[in-house]
Amino acid sequence: MKISHVKQDINITPELQARIDELISHYPADKRKSALLPVLHEVQDAHDNWLSIELQDKVAEILNIKPIEVYEVVSFYTMYNQQPIGKYMFEFCRTSCCAIRGAENLMDYTCNKLGIKEGETTPDGMFTVVGVECLGACGYAPMLQLGDYYRENLTEEKMDALIEECKNGQVKLH
Ligand code: FES
Repeated sequence: MKISHVKQDINITPELQARIDELISHYPADKRKSALLPVLHEVQDAHDNWLSIELQDKVAEILNIKPIEVYEVVSFYTMYNQQPIGKYMFEFCRTSCCAIRGAENLMDYTCNKLGIKEGETTPDGMFTVVGVECLGACGYAPMLQLGDYYRENLTEEKMDALIEECKNGQVKLH
């Protein structure tokens, strides 16, 4: 994903700050950086599931580390989003087992059905489709991650049903 220039409202609520403090407390005072990954998850969850540069700078400030130390982590892991994403993000595994079992065709099918290309979000802000590397569920290929859950042994029919479930608000993300 490319870095976004969309402005993001940053709101470190007392509840979020307390959760961050609790995560930081798991590590020695001079090793606050060790809390970076879980803190990024918490902050992202509280900000519509994405991390603007300004928000990444805020995380650096909270952890008392350099902004580049946050950027390099956020840009490395696909679970951190650098631009606004849809309410439902289909993260298709496209590594070997899933590729052999038709992941690319399935991703194309889904993109065509939603009228977007890989990496894009539908204009109504509902769906994003991205390709990611192995998610460790190779025996259930092809598969995707949606929120905190995996959808496995996918077919075009299952994608049709999943999209309908999302549209009807029947899908649990967390
Ligand atoms: S290759 Fe797709 S989950 Fe491992």
